[in-house]
Amino acid sequence: MYPRLVIDIDKLRNNLDAVAKITKDDGNCSMMIVTKAVCADEKVVEMIAQHPQVDYIADARILNLKSLADVAHKNGKETVLLRLPMMSEVEDAVKYADLSFNSEIEVIKMLNAEAAKINKTHKIVLMIDLGDLREGIFFRDEDIIFNTVEEILKLDNIQLEGVAVNLTCYGAIIPKNDNLQVLVDIAGKIEEKFGIELKIVSGGNSSSIYLIDKKDLPAGINNLRLGECFLLGNDTAYGTQIEGTVKDAMILEAQIIELKKKPSMPIGEIGKDAFGNVPYYEDKGDIMRAIIAIGQQDTTLDSMIPVEEGIEVIGGSSDHTVLDVTNAKRDLKVGDIVSFKVEYGALLKATTSKYVEKVYK
Ligand SMILES: Cc1ncc(COP(=O)(O)O)c(C=O)c1O
Repeated sequence: MYPRLVIDIDKLRNNLDAVAKITKDDGNCSMMIVTKAVCADEKVVEMIAQHPQVDYIADARILNLKSLADVAHKNGKETVLLRLPMMSEVEDAVKYADLSFNSEIEVIKMLNAEAAKINKTHKIVLMIDLGDLREGIFFRDEDIIFNTVEEILKLDNIQLEGVAVNLTCYGAIIPKNDNLQVLVDIAGKIEEKFGIELKIVSGGNSSSIYLIDKKDLPAGINNLRLGECFLLGNDTAYGTQIEGTVKDAMILEAQIIELKKKPSMPIGEIGKDAFGNVPYYEDKGDIMRAIIAIGQQDTTLDSMIPVEEGIEVIGGSSDHTVLDVTNAKRDLKVGDIVSFKVEYGALLKATTSKYVEKVYK
């Protein structure tokens, strides 16, 4: 069935080996591997769970943690809920995540109550916002940080495991030695003030890994949470490729349903497309246009890169993607399959779409 995502488990394992070498051997960090961009795909999770250097398996969605918790635990990995728990999911958070990331004391108290009901200790990591302005207690509000820690330490069924920051995903702030040092300092102050030891000082995601290579990760950062850098080989701070990884471990394939020579410019007054955008067209005269049966319900058009030279994605709608194949090297026909490397947006949608079959190599 098409469209389909072809997942090469061996290539993903090699990518994970490369990322683990940097993170664990060179960086001395524990490693949370993040499965959300593959929608916690069962076979990918199995490979991650069996990888000897992975410490935790993390996801932002409870449904994903629910599906992966057994295999993670069987292989001795802890499960982590990365997105702050909704009040409506605290029961499942405690059930399926050994550890969750938090910034709201009311929610942490609810987690404590749920954990007490099932006689469990739930671990939490307190999120600190270093200026990216997504989740976390703002780093300048030290009083709030300390008051929150004080409250947490009163809870019988919650264990404060550490502190963490997330950068780049929202505010696009790049992790550097100076901003991550602020997290290390906050961790140190918490430890000193409360006489406790924090096991985790988590310095971010795939945008932080480049600091290890530069020998610029502050001492004291001892954990990273990594998704994109092992799935797609990307250092997401500067867009370079992580040494030892490949970018084609997952290939998206779609089938041509129409192939015709037509003008490159639509004819008539241009209004808004299906998504409310006013499209821009380049007038290249008549071109060979191929329509493939995959659309924005299944992928993100600007993050699919044709594997073959001479093929260009020129637009699409919810069910269709239009390609300019005028310069294709292959003599294309209706029914032929076109392959694409994927970037993050396309991967996320393709793995989430029930219309995209997943097959394995
Ligand atoms: C809190 C948190 N940590 C880590 C990650 C993993 O990010 P990346 O895929 O860039 O490594 C995410 C991504 O969703 C996240 O939200």
